[in-house]
Amino acid sequence: MDVKRPLYASDGARTPIARLGAFVLLAVVGLASVGSYLFTTDVVEHVRHVAPVNAQAILATCAALDVPVAPPHDFAERTTSDRFVEGTKATLIKNATIWTGNDDGKEIVNADIFIDKGIIKFVGKSSKHWFTGESGEVTAFNTFDAAGGWVTPGIVDLHSHIGVGASPHLNGASDTNSRHGITQPWLRALDGLNTHDMSFALSISGGVTTSLVLPGSANSIGGQGFPIKLRTTAERSPFSKLLEPWFTYNGSGIKPVHPPRWRYLKQACGENPSRVYGNTRMDNIYAMRVAYNEARKVKEAQDAYCVKAQSGQWAELGEFPESLQWEMLVDVLRGRVKVNTHCYEATDLDGLVRLSNEFKFQIEAFHHAHETYLVPEVLKKAYGKPPASALFATHARFKREAYRGSEFAPKILHENGLRVIMKSDHPVLDSRFLVFEAQQAHYYGLPWNVALSAVTTTPANALGLDHRIGYVRKGYDADIVLWDVHPLSIPAAPKQVFIDGIPQLAHPHLAKSKAEHLQKLPQPPNFDEEAKKAVEWEGLPPLHPKQSWKGTVKFVQVGTLWTGPGLQAKTLSPGPSTVIVRGGRVLCTGTGCSDFQGDSEVEATVDLAGGALAPSLISYGSTLGLQEIPPELTTGDGIAPDALRGPIPAILGGDGTLIRAVDGLQFGGRDALLAYISGVGTAITGPVHAGVIGGLSTAFALGAPSKLSKGAVKQRVVALHASISKGGPVSISTQIALLRRLLHGDGPGDAGKHFKSAGNGEIPLVIDVQGADEIATLLELKEEVETELGSTIKLSIAGATEAHLLAKELAAAGVGVLITRPRPFPSQWSQQRLLPGHPLSAHSAVDELLAHNVTVGLGEGDKALARNARFNLAWIYHEAGGRLSKEDTVSLGSSNIAALLGAEYDATDLVAYHGGDIFDFTAKAVGTVSSSRGVVDIF
Ligand SMILES: *[C@@H]1O[C@H](CO)[C@@H](O)[C@H](O)[C@H]1NC(C)=O
Ligand SMILES: *[C@@H]1O[C@H](CO)[C@@H](O)[C@H](O)[C@H]1NC(C)=O
Ligand SMILES: *[C@@H]1O[C@H](CO)[C@@H](O)[C@H](O)[C@H]1NC(C)=O
Repeated sequence: MDVKRPLYASDGARTPIARLGAFVLLAVVGLASVGSYLFTTDVVEHVRHVAPVNAQAILATCAALDVPVAPPHDFAERTTSDRFVEGTKATLIKNATIWTGNDDGKEIVNADIFIDKGIIKFVGKSSKHWFTGESGEVTAFNTFDAAGGWVTPGIVDLHSHIGVGASPHLNGASDTNSRHGITQPWLRALDGLNTHDMSFALSISGGVTTSLVLPGSANSIGGQGFPIKLRTTAERSPFSKLLEPWFTYNGSGIKPVHPPRWRYLKQACGENPSRVYGNTRMDNIYAMRVAYNEARKVKEAQDAYCVKAQSGQWAELGEFPESLQWEMLVDVLRGRVKVNTHCYEATDLDGLVRLSNEFKFQIEAFHHAHETYLVPEVLKKAYGKPPASALFATHARFKREAYRGSEFAPKILHENGLRVIMKSDHPVLDSRFLVFEAQQAHYYGLPWNVALSAVTTTPANALGLDHRIGYVRKGYDADIVLWDVHPLSIPAAPKQVFIDGIPQLAHPHLAKSKAEHLQKLPQPPNFDEEAKKAVEWEGLPPLHPKQSWKGTVKFVQVGTLWTGPGLQAKTLSPGPSTVIVRGGRVLCTGTGCSDFQGDSEVEATVDLAGGALAPSLISYGSTLGLQEIPPELTTGDGIAPDALRGPIPAILGGDGTLIRAVDGLQFGGRDALLAYISGVGTAITGPVHAGVIGGLSTAFALGAPSKLSKGAVKQRVVALHASISKGGPVSISTQIALLRRLLHGDGPGDAGKHFKSAGNGEIPLVIDVQGADEIATLLELKEEVETELGSTIKLSIAGATEAHLLAKELAAAGVGVLITRPRPFPSQWSQQRLLPGHPLSAHSAVDELLAHNVTVGLGEGDKALARNARFNLAWIYHEAGGRLSKEDTVSLGSSNIAALLGAEYDATDLVAYHGGDIFDFTAKAVGTVSSSRGVVDIF
């Protein structure tokens, strides 16, 4: 224990308490020397009773130890925000429909809002006194007519690595994780906060105004987090972004008039710290116990010291015990820190709850928390109040401890009286779309008021900052979002975002028209049964269809029937009507069924309540069918060899080896089945690979029970795949050289043969590539090979974040684009020139490509998110504001994908939606009609 002098404390970096002492001493006694005892008498035997010169400072230090964290008592009366930027004009927002956050998130008021000096000055019906000062002067202000539109407080993200894991990712700005120790409470995310992260502007454009920036999860105790406002500051410094920083972070003391502010700690349990340090869970928790024990010793030494000081026993008291290393955890033990703990499963949650009781500290929130919904009683046993759960909506199964994650977790936790927060873990999920997480949580059963609170008031409360953010209330920070539609409607995008009263969008682009019904709160379907089963089955409820009918099935109350091959959505008339299906094929529809004689053969009748039979979607771009838990190699197919990284054994075919995805296919995976019961019938997957040569993809039915069942493998070989990527072991030009040789027919073995066919235009070629420069080179290469061979290469590019920059050239070359991240993000350098869409650009990349007649498919690169296909399409559809028909939008996620990959497409594969059409939030997929498999599956 190093309670006396921290190893590397210099004068310039005195510990916080020493600084506090200095502050009070300077103020009270007016002496410049700290910590040296100047006695007022030299009578040694009286020393014990004689107070040292800095006695006042010591006593103040001791008294300050027990001051609880709180805003200043007069905070509510502030007239100017500490973050106010001089020169910011006041704004009157007129005629807004305001979700205030009050009344448990249930209050909605139609009112005006006046913001000035960085603060919400008034909410209500505007009147002259709002703008007139005491001496009669009138404040100049801008007016913003919300025209009845939705307004919420700024979105608050409780878990972000924005700035510390800056985007695009570059090794030189990767400051999320220190690998120098398992417990490092002394590290500060602030010290790695990069103000040039490209995603600040992107996240603001999604309505995010405040984020808690946390260190990563590579350590059991990773360090200190910081709430920031996302806006750019005039000073351009990380520090100027901080919201209510702990006073001593920049050298000020805790002044007697200011109670202390909150501090934030990041801890992690489970796999991540284990992975880095080769630890087991036992090692991790023991390391935390050791750290807390060190802190406890310091705290007890301080308390004992203060008992003596306060009772006048000054003799040999020495210096106030402090530790630069453990002071943060001492503050945790003193209840001055919001402890945020990354923790997934029951084992770890239980361990942390025991730790909290052993050392008596409160855990504010469990993050990721994929199993908290299974153990609500464990959370209630935590020291102090039960921790909140900071969750993803549907992002799960990316590692073993996330395997039991459920889309119903928010609903179940809320029903257990526990706090629910939706978080991004930015850039893991792009915080720009944090409100999409709330939309999904709402869809899967979280009440609307709680869903909106989960990204505003609840995280503001978990930050201890709900005295100023998280609500639209008089006296609160002027962090306000004006939305184009209801914030829980899928396409919701900000029309304007205010942070500290400053408008953040200089030239917001808005959709020309978003449907009127999107202004209303969406009415999601009922998932009570599914949620119950999720708990009963400990997170692994069976997902296979409940029934499979091979005979005749009657759908009644069908509102819309989509028919192929042109994918026409046909509204059945008169009114909702009947569709009869036999052997997975539509037999008759509407009035055509009036002569139907076979009622006795009808095996099942399914009421769709005005819903639809709509095209089954195709998923492309993820590892569906080849991976289950990606880091767990025993759960999937593994990775194809790469000839550029090392020789491939001759027995395999050497460098000419070519892998077929169909040989590694597995059925019944959870993400595959979740996609299936969400309306995605087919996936096309290429081999998982790290090199240029990808192998041959395969198309398969996600709902099939096994590879050998009828129609399970739809097409054994679909297309030939390759990847061009930066940052790998070989240069881009080397990768192009390889492709050139192969396409000319100069490659060996199976790979040589297939690339030769691709060069001759006999088999479709799909190349993963992101940047416009690489795409341009591929277009040149295509032309070069075609000229020499007299062929037309069937080329598509996938990923293709910057493809819109070459829309014209792609169209001229007849090259299609498979987008695999529907909502673009600059993860890599070669994705920086992305087209963000509303409100930052008038068009999305999909729009731009379509406008140039490029064939576009909308895929999904993350297998856990393949289930969101119809939500992504709905978003594209509404964003296009009338430029795209419903039919063309559905083609993006079905027939276009098939066309680009050269896969057969069966427009008679349908999904039955209850209560709405394919893009509606009211709709729930309840079954499929598959002619290729000859069945009707009921989920
Ligand atoms: C608010 O906006 C709506 C929609 O434009 C309009 O119908 C209504 O009259 C406006 N109310 C006021 C008070 O301006
Ligand atoms: C430290 O930060 C506070 C705001 O939190 C500010 O009032 C004070 O002036 C700052 N001090 C220095 C030395 O920058
Ligand atoms: C796209 O195709 C349509 C229909 O064939 C045509 O009218 C339009 O001019 C084309 N647009 C471009 C940019 O080539």
